[in-house]
Amino acid sequence: MIEIKPSGQACGAEIAGVDLTEPLESNVVHEIRDAWLAHHVVSFPNQDLSDDDLERFAQYFGDFGVDTFFAPIEGRKHIAAVLREAGDTSPIFADAWHSDWSFQASPPSATILYGIDIPPVGGDTLFANQHLALSEMPDDLRARFAGKTAVHSAALAYAPDTGAYGTKERMGSMNIRPSKDAYEKQSHPLFRTHPETGREGIFSAAFAYILGFEEMSDEEAFPLLRELLAWQTQERFVYRHRWQPKMLIMWDNRSVLHRATGGYEGHRREMHRITVG
Ligand code: SIN
Repeated sequence: MIEIKPSGQACGAEIAGVDLTEPLESNVVHEIRDAWLAHHVVSFPNQDLSDDDLERFAQYFGDFGVDTFFAPIEGRKHIAAVLREAGDTSPIFADAWHSDWSFQASPPSATILYGIDIPPVGGDTLFANQHLALSEMPDDLRARFAGKTAVHSAALAYAPDTGAYGTKERMGSMNIRPSKDAYEKQSHPLFRTHPETGREGIFSAAFAYILGFEEMSDEEAFPLLRELLAWQTQERFVYRHRWQPKMLIMWDNRSVLHRATGGYEGHRREMHRITVG
């Protein structure tokens, strides 16, 4: 039996009693999956993992995702490095609220991040529970968004030159591949039912990837999107994840938003990251 310790915040739980360097029995995988669906973000401290271990763990939860705009680390097809060298002066990568790759037709269900080099201060990852954000939404606000279809695009992040990571100076040590494909658009309902739990939630967030609503001008949509983002990311919906070296976390992109934070200037931070399709 694994041990599950909820964070006491809006989501998140720590899991002990399992060694991820070893293949897992199917009942253990089921327990982890249930904990992940219940808590949305699960963390496993003190796991001394190789890249093979990481890939094996990911595949218990589905096929590898398609990581557009990222180059993988050398020798691997499905692992990317989230890396900031001590001397980097580029913006912090991924410090806007988002759900991973929500601009894809089939965005990844899970993202797995493994802490290799963890700075002594800062660098927490924040998660905002979007089931809670929707269930607590007042009726009048909810009515304004009900039935809306959001238009997603990677342009603000990965368009060459103009994207937040569109130039070499702005991507720092990250191996990002800006591309004109970032201008492509993809629509998803704003309120979605989670395919595994049946719970309703708000999917993704403005300005990282949601750029508007179908059948609405940008002028009309922008104030609405700003108001929605402020609602979605209130402190009471947020779990702050504090990292330790050799800690693995897995989150559910269908039920949480996340964002990176800075505060570790002068220190190196390195993670290995896999998405699950
Ligand atoms: C990510 O969004 O994949 C990175 C999160 C982090 O660096 O904390």
